[in-house]
Parts: sequence; C-alpha cells; structure tokens
Amino acid sequence: MRFHTRKWVKPEDLNANETLFGGRVLAWIDEEAALYSIIQLENKKVVTKYMSEINFMSTAKQGDIIEIGIEVVKFGVSSLTLNCEVRNKMTRETIVTVDNIIMVNLGDDGKPKPHGKKKVEYVRDRLASSEGN
Ligand SMILES: CC(C)(COP(=O)(O)OP(=O)(O)OC[C@H]1O[C@@H](n2cnc3c(N)ncnc32)[C@H](O)[C@@H]1OP(=O)(O)O)[C@@H](O)C(=O)NCCC(=O)NCCS
Repeated sequence: MRFHTRKWVKPEDLNANETLFGGRVLAWIDEEAALYSIIQLENKKVVTKYMSEINFMSTAKQGDIIEIGIEVVKFGVSSLTLNCEVRNKMTRETIVTVDNIIMVNLGDDGKPKPHGKKKVEYVRDRLASSEGN
C-alpha cells in the first residue's frame, strides 16, 4: 500500500472528546479515493458508490500527523474497488481501515461507463510513453 497524503490534525478536526472526529477522517478518505480514482481512470467524473466495513482502531490527537494509504483491490468494468488505511505517520499505528471502497466511472450522461483499465498506472510512465511517440 502506498501512502500518498499526509494531514495535520488541527483544532477544527476534533470531536467533543478532543480526539480526531470520525466524520472528518471519512471526508479525507473519500477525497483521497476520488483523487486516486480520477488519476487512475483518467476521468474527472468518478463518484463514490459504496463503502464497506469501517473499523476505527485507534485515535489521533491535535498536532498528530496522519497519512492515508490506498491500494487497488479490483478493476471492474465501470468500477474501481479500493482498500484504505489511515495511520499515524510517526508511530505507524493504524487509526482506521476501510476494506472496500467502490468508485464508479461515469460518462457525460452521469451513467456508469466502462473505463477500460486493467492495472495500476503511473503518471510518469504515461508521460514517458507520450513523449516517446
Ligand atoms: C454511481 C451510480 C451512477 C451507479 O449506478 P448503478 O445503477 O448502481 O450502476 P450499476 O448497477 O451499473 O453498477 C455500476 C458499477 O458499480 C458496481 N456496484 C454498484 N452497486 C454496488 C454495491 N452495492 N457494491 C459493490 N459494487 C457495486 C457494479 O458492480 C458495477 O460495477 P462494474 O461496472 O465494474 O461491473 C449511481 O448509484 C449514483 O449516481 N449514485 C450516487 C453516487 C454519488 O453521488 N456519490 C457521491 C456521494 S453522495
């Protein structure tokens, strides 16, 4: 799993217990999944369809640095299934895991559209191959 994004836990991210608010982490995860899918599928019209088990395993406090990891579980026809882990950057302690996040690739009509992708791609390789043409 690659951890792409880091976040700094700030006062506005806390719950009434003064620890990281679960809803905030889910918003961060949803954005990360959307960004990852848009880059992989090369389409800005990608939406979150489904999230499976969400397991809050430990918490974070103000000032902690956390990082968000994403990996591909499966390329479908119009869907992309992702797995996510959020952990403390310094201690590597897992904060939350989401087993399956289903993202769906849409066409201009807002309906599911086949994305044609079968494996993880890297932007640097795409750029290198377009320069080689
Ligand atoms: C995304 C949306 C267009 C999908 O429409 P749909 O009629 O369910 O589409 P389909 O049944 O054709 O399914 C599309 C893909 O999602 C997958 N899928 C749909 N529901 C699923 C579920 N509950 N679990 C797992 N996969 C699911 C299907 O297997 C299919 O994958 P594939 O093409 O790779 O085989 C529609 O549900 C929608 O607009 N939802 C709102 C999305 C949104 O606004 N999200 C932002 C947060 S509110």
